[in-house]
Amino acid sequence: MMNLDEVYWSSRYASGRTGWDIGYPSPPITQYLDQLDNKSLKILLPGAGNAYEASYAFQKGFQNLFILDIAKAPLEKFKKANPLFPAKQLIRDDFFNHNETYDLVLEQTFFCALDPELRRDYVNKMHELINPKGRLAGVLFNRKFDFQGPPFGGTEEEYRSYFSEKFDGVFASCYNSIPERMGSELWINLRPK
Ligand SMILES: C[S@@+](CC[C@H](N)C(=O)[O-])C[C@H]1O[C@@H](n2cnc3c(N)ncnc32)[C@H](O)[C@@H]1O
Repeated sequence: MMNLDEVYWSSRYASGRTGWDIGYPSPPITQYLDQLDNKSLKILLPGAGNAYEASYAFQKGFQNLFILDIAKAPLEKFKKANPLFPAKQLIRDDFFNHNETYDLVLEQTFFCALDPELRRDYVNKMHELINPKGRLAGVLFNRKFDFQGPPFGGTEEEYRSYFSEKFDGVFASCYNSIPERMGSELWINLRPK
């Protein structure tokens, strides 16, 4: 298993090797947020990086919003860019050590950043973190990569084999991906079983 730890991710930020970072809020996530009426939902963005989706959500009135990342640099950057965002809602921790519960967890290039051997652990951890009536929503890569990850890709069939034990819901071709990822993402909207 690869050691994709805090040192690894911090060095990626320090050296600017952040090819995953699209520089603006991901449209599948913002369009999903746009149709949610309940602004008091408790939301987590794990592996949030520069968390443009969190800036967007906060500006739209979602205040019960938490950002979690193992690396310090993007959290500090977010804090500077969003001075009104409560510091206690910026969490520096390993996702697998985080113990809280949420109504909604948003997935944006976090699953693909983890060693594939951790996929079952990711599903189990998400199940612990999400309230019985909560949701896991976001995007997963629906393609393989011909180089050593991260990112690590996969197929709908493979993802279903992990998620189906603990979640029910939608896996659909994503129609509102960014142009560079069009046709290579799955939208997921899952409820815990
Ligand atoms: C590929 S980047 C994606 C960042 C952001 N979601 C985006 O789309 O720009 C993966 C992020 O997950 C964070 N990360 C990796 N492993 C983590 C873990 N075990 N717990 C929390 N964050 C983690 C990294 O520091 C990095 O910011």
